[in-house]
Formats: sequence, structure tokens, C-alpha cells
Amino acid sequence: MSDIRNIVVLTGAGISAESGIDTFRDSGGLWEQHRVEDVATPEGFSRDPDLVHRFYDARREAVQQVEPNPAHEALALLDKRWDGDLLIVTQNVDDLHERAGASRVLHMHGELLSALCARCDARHRWSEPLFGRPECPGCGEAALRPDVVWFGEMPYEMERIYDALRRADMFVSIGTSGAVYPAAGFVRDAREFGARTLELNLERGEGSYWFHESRQGRASKLVPEWVGEVLGGMPS
Ligand code: NAD
Ligand code: APR
Repeated sequence: MSDIRNIVVLTGAGISAESGIDTFRDSGGLWEQHRVEDVATPEGFSRDPDLVHRFYDARREAVQQVEPNPAHEALALLDKRWDGDLLIVTQNVDDLHERAGASRVLHMHGELLSALCARCDARHRWSEPLFGRPECPGCGEAALRPDVVWFGEMPYEMERIYDALRRADMFVSIGTSGAVYPAAGFVRDAREFGARTLELNLERGEGSYWFHESRQGRASKLVPEWVGEVLGGMPS
């Protein structure tokens, strides 16, 4: 580990599962209960904004009732202690990384606790329902939408992510099925740029064969173990 200086961590729904948040593709997951086309596409939102608002309002409320788990806490510890580059790229729209104390976090699929005005493009911290169409505090129009990236939309901060992947010596993917691009392609990119790659997931994800190493188990166990290895090898 002593040759590692720059780390990129990718997280997905699996890291928040033990906090009580539903994943998408596991049995009983969100995409078994809802049609993606209805609630997670721009077309679905134009067709039935009330349905989409109700879906995200429920998720926003649920997220505010749960707590970070030992996997989030271990990454927050790494964030505090690691003196090389670190970027935690999350596909999650919850705020559990931040509530555990991590600050080097980038939400490539947006955030539930943010609202985006489709009229003036302003973003606002938002913890209340969007059902009922509240006015945008910036322009006054009732044009707020959840600040989440839907299928068919461009994920956020791709340039910063690829800059970090290019420099990374280590890429770690945690709790993601590897089903959704571009995040699912990061392992291949990081590997081609020269990073060592590690998967930490309950089961092997779709692109598991791209990783140098894959460990199966609960994130609350695997992540603290890995962070211990990395910090244990840090030059004092
Ligand atoms: P998508 O194309 O809707 O989302 C990816 C978005 O990222 C696109 O808008 C694309 O323009 C953008 N993008 C891609 N590469 C980029 C880059 N390098 N820089 C910036 N932006 C980039 O998602 P998709 O491709 O339709 O779906 C991805 C996977 O998810 C597929 O395997 C699909 O089968 C799966 N999927 C699953 C469900 C489901 O769970 N039921 C629904 C839809 C899609
Ligand atoms: N510990 C570790 N891994 C877990 C745990 C756990 N306790 N529980 C579940 N997992 C794993 C599952 O085995 C699965 O491989 O987490 C993964 C979750 O995969 P998905 O539900 O597909 O979630 P994710 O990969 O984050 O989805 C990506 O899809 O619909 C979009 O925008 C949405 O950001 C999301 C993206």
C-alpha cells in the first residue's frame, strides 16, 4: 500500500443498504416497485410530474430518517487521514457520506436534498416535499424539479471524475451492481490509466472481471477492513 498516493472511490446504493435505504436492482429494490421510465426519465416527469414528485418526496423523507453506517464512517475516516488525493464519487443521492464526516465527495447522479429550477437553473438546498409545486426562491416560478440525474441525462462533474481517474493509483468500487454507465466503465478506465482496482460488494457486479481483486461481503465489514489496510500502510 505504501506506493499508493491517489485514490478514487466509487460508491453505489449497496453502501447505504445497511442504513435502511432500498437499492435499485436487488430483490425488492426500487426498480421492482416502480417503472424506471415513469419516475427516472425526463419524459416520465413531463408526463406526470406529480407521480415523480411523490416518488422523490418519499425518498427524501426516508433518507432524513436514517443514519450513516460503519462503511460511510470508515470512508470519512479515510477522508480525514489520507494526505494524498482522494475523491469519493457517489452514485447515491443520499447525504450519508457527508453526515459521516466525509468532505471530498462528488455526487455524479445529483442529490435528493437539492432542488433544481428548470426555469432559471438555480440550485437550492431542499428538505421539504416538491409535490404541490413550491416556487423557486430565485425566480418565483413553480418550476422546481429534484436535482437528480435521470436516465438519458448527463451525469454531473464528468471532467473532474476523469481527471481523478487519470491520476489514480487505486480505484475502489463499493456497493454498486455495475449496470449503469458511465459509472460502470470507471473500472476499465482507471485500470487502463494504471490504477490497481478493487471491488467490494455483496456479490460480483456485472463488470467484476475488470477488477484486479474482488471481495464479497457486507460493506459495513469490508470497507472498514480495507480502510484499515490503507491507513495501516500509510507512511507516518
Ligand atoms: P443513460 O444513457 O440514460 O445514462 C447515461 C448518461 O450519461 C447519458 O445521458 C450519456 O450521455 C451520459 N454519458 C455517457 N458517457 C458519458 C461521459 N463519458 N461523459 C459524460 N456523460 C456521459 O443510461 P443507459 O446507457 O440508458 O443505461 C445504462 C445502463 O443502465 C444500461 O446497461 C441499461 O440497461 C441500464 N438501465 C437499467 C434500467 C433499469 O434498472 N431498469 C433502466 C435504464 C437503463
Ligand atoms: N454491502 C455491500 N454491497 C451490497 C449490500 C451491502 N450491505 N447490499 C447490497 N449490496 C450490493 C448489491 O449486491 C448490488 O450489487 O449493492 C449493489 C447495488 O446495486 P444497484 O441496486 O444496481 O445500485 P447502483 O449500482 O448504485 O445503481 C446505479 O442506477 O438507477 C440508477 O441512478 C441510479 O445511481 C443509481 C444507478
